[in-house]
Amino acid sequence: MSLDVRPLGSTLGAVISGLDARSLSESDEADLKAAFAEHRVLVLQGQSLDADEQVAFSARFGPLYRMPYVKPLDDHPDVIAVLKEADEVNVSTFGSWWHADFSYLEEPPVYSILQSLELPPKGGDTLFADMCTAWEALSDGMKRLLEPMKVMHSGHIYGTRLSSDGTRDRMRGVQVSTGHEEADVERAHPLVRLHRPSGRKALFCSPTYTTRLEGMTPDESRPILEMLYDHMTRPEFTIRQRWQSGDLLMWDNRAVVHLAVNDYDGYRRLLHRTTVGSERPVGE
Ligand code: SIN
Repeated sequence: MSLDVRPLGSTLGAVISGLDARSLSESDEADLKAAFAEHRVLVLQGQSLDADEQVAFSARFGPLYRMPYVKPLDDHPDVIAVLKEADEVNVSTFGSWWHADFSYLEEPPVYSILQSLELPPKGGDTLFADMCTAWEALSDGMKRLLEPMKVMHSGHIYGTRLSSDGTRDRMRGVQVSTGHEEADVERAHPLVRLHRPSGRKALFCSPTYTTRLEGMTPDESRPILEMLYDHMTRPEFTIRQRWQSGDLLMWDNRAVVHLAVNDYDGYRRLLHRTTVGSERPVGE
């Protein structure tokens, strides 16, 4: 491989430098896809793609996916702005609890790509947890118990938090519409799903969208789900993206969960986000 690939964490993520995402050769593209399959989170340093360039780069990985319930840019229906303004203080931000994107859909999106445009001088990091390594680290007994299970996902918890999060208002910069009946439906997905590019298995649940284990009540499910949330977000399974100007970040929702740290009140933060592909989660 000719790319400069530096691991970000011990099991997850890599930083790629010396590459222009606007003009990838065929061999760069093949190397990048191989690095993505292995590391599942990539940071391409030194890119400053405009919205058209980001769409063109994203399309190399599959069909662009238009996210439901989130308003895109007026002139770019495949791009959303993740924006918090400096004067938005004590507001709920987009994606600030652990989740895989839109996991409550029949066919949740596969890749997410963020281009940094304006960053706070400190804070505003994005965290990822390695759901493949977290799965592999469980005991054989726990794996046998969990592997046949399905979990129910719904947009309801997030929608409720966004629209009535105690004292917090919603950030103005990302317009998420809530109260859609079809988003509140519970859908069953395998608790352990296949990450096709690597052939590895990954836990697939999150406190943002998972309501319960299939066939059980929320109360009955809670001890198992909370054990899994504690386990999968252990420090050794996580990495932290400290954004630098020009960073282009991409992740695979089949193999990681992520969250945006909401700790930069008083500063503007703007990223452009594209989403690629969608797939029904399968166990094998
Ligand atoms: C998201 O797409 O979940 C937001 C990530 C971020 O703002 O860092």
